[in-house]
Amino acid sequence: MKALYSRILKKITPSKKELVEEKKLVDLIRKNVNKMEGKHSHLEWCGSSARGTHLTGDKDLDLFVMFDKNLSAHELEEEGLRIGKEVFKGHKWETAYSQHPYIRGEINGFEVEIVPGYVVSSGAEKQSAVDRTPFHNKYLLKRMKVSQRQETRLLKQFLKGIGAYGADLKNQALPGYGVELLVLYYGSFDKTIKAISKWKEKTVIKIEKVKRDVSEDFIAPLVLIDSVDENRNVASALSVEQYNKMILAAQKFLKNPSEKFFFGNKLDEWSVEKVKEALSKREFIVIEADFPTNILPDLVWGQLRRYLRKAATHMEENDFIIKRSALWSDEKKIFFMYELNALTLPKVQKVLGPPATDAENVKKFLARKRKIISGPREENGRIVIEAEREKTSAALVLREFVEETKKNEKKGLKEGLAHAKVLPESEILKHYKGTFAEHFTKYLEGKEIFE
Ligand code: UTP
Ligand code: MN
Repeated sequence: MKALYSRILKKITPSKKELVEEKKLVDLIRKNVNKMEGKHSHLEWCGSSARGTHLTGDKDLDLFVMFDKNLSAHELEEEGLRIGKEVFKGHKWETAYSQHPYIRGEINGFEVEIVPGYVVSSGAEKQSAVDRTPFHNKYLLKRMKVSQRQETRLLKQFLKGIGAYGADLKNQALPGYGVELLVLYYGSFDKTIKAISKWKEKTVIKIEKVKRDVSEDFIAPLVLIDSVDENRNVASALSVEQYNKMILAAQKFLKNPSEKFFFGNKLDEWSVEKVKEALSKREFIVIEADFPTNILPDLVWGQLRRYLRKAATHMEENDFIIKRSALWSDEKKIFFMYELNALTLPKVQKVLGPPATDAENVKKFLARKRKIISGPREENGRIVIEAEREKTSAALVLREFVEETKKNEKKGLKEGLAHAKVLPESEILKHYKGTFAEHFTKYLEGKEIFE
């Protein structure tokens, strides 16, 4: 195990050079900000790079400009933006939005965020969600042992490898801070993996004492109470699927530890012929749309997941049986994919009615508008008819749905659907390249990457 871990750590730990560059840049910005006129008190370096728990190549720097808590929200915003813009003088920057707007830009290849925050005495006293961040930082810096930094890196990479890292709507998993809390709680990578492998349906973790019983407050498979704010579940983005994936992966890793959990199996992309062969045996239908650019990508992912389900429900309401659905996007193009039992349904549909002796309901049943091909007759005590099915083609049903939703969807997805179309199976092959090919191979193989 030791050898395995050190081999992995060699690949994921930032180099001395990286760390020196990083620190140099933060020092420079800090000096710069301290020199500026304004109502700010100081700069705080937050995020995983400040704690030495980031992975190599990770070039995001979260810097907080701190203000007195008596400053109005409006002033905080204005001051934050002003200082942010000054920091990036001569560099590329843009305004980004979380709870309040802030400036994000690029300096020497680093993606730097200058976020305004209040100096408050505890995380729970926060005025906005971002105010917790400096507390996370202080808390972890105080509590984490130096050796636990590497343990954290291992766990982050493990979760990345199995595709369960990141609290955004695309990944629906744990944020970096959550990973650090787990390592802090269980002690090491090994111990965390062992613990995860034994997680049951619901896990509640409280590292610090909390005043009340919080276990029922959160509807989530994992309740990981934020050590600096007991009203927050750090794992709130974690979906049940991702939670189960973590448990399964941990169990498999303990049985058979290997590097593939951390970096994925090398995927052998299927050849076009092989995909063609698979498609000839399976029934697919796809909605193609464009990734909207007029709202935040993270919000888009939430919309896409809902839409994927909504379209599926619509098809099911029309008697189609969906074996599996999948969502793919490179944040340019989007495919909503459905694998069905059959793309066309028989023209004639057998409909089972009420008991033949229930005259009143039989009457109602027969009064319903439809084209009866055969019957009514009695079968095993029930009234039965065979009626003509109106919609027999999945493509047609889905096309109708897409046209309807083009009008009704909310901002974001609405723009993405503007040129949406339903692709037949044959069209899928035309798109079989790049990251879609990778995704589709994985789908067709139908195995977790770590299996
Ligand atoms: P980051 O998303 O950059 O995470 O948020 P990170 O901890 O630095 O981890 P990696 O290594 O980049 O993936 C920076 C800080 O913002 C707060 C945390 O304090 C985090 O350390 N944050 C972020 C949250 O409180 N919740 C979140 O969901 C995301
Ligand atoms: Mn970060």
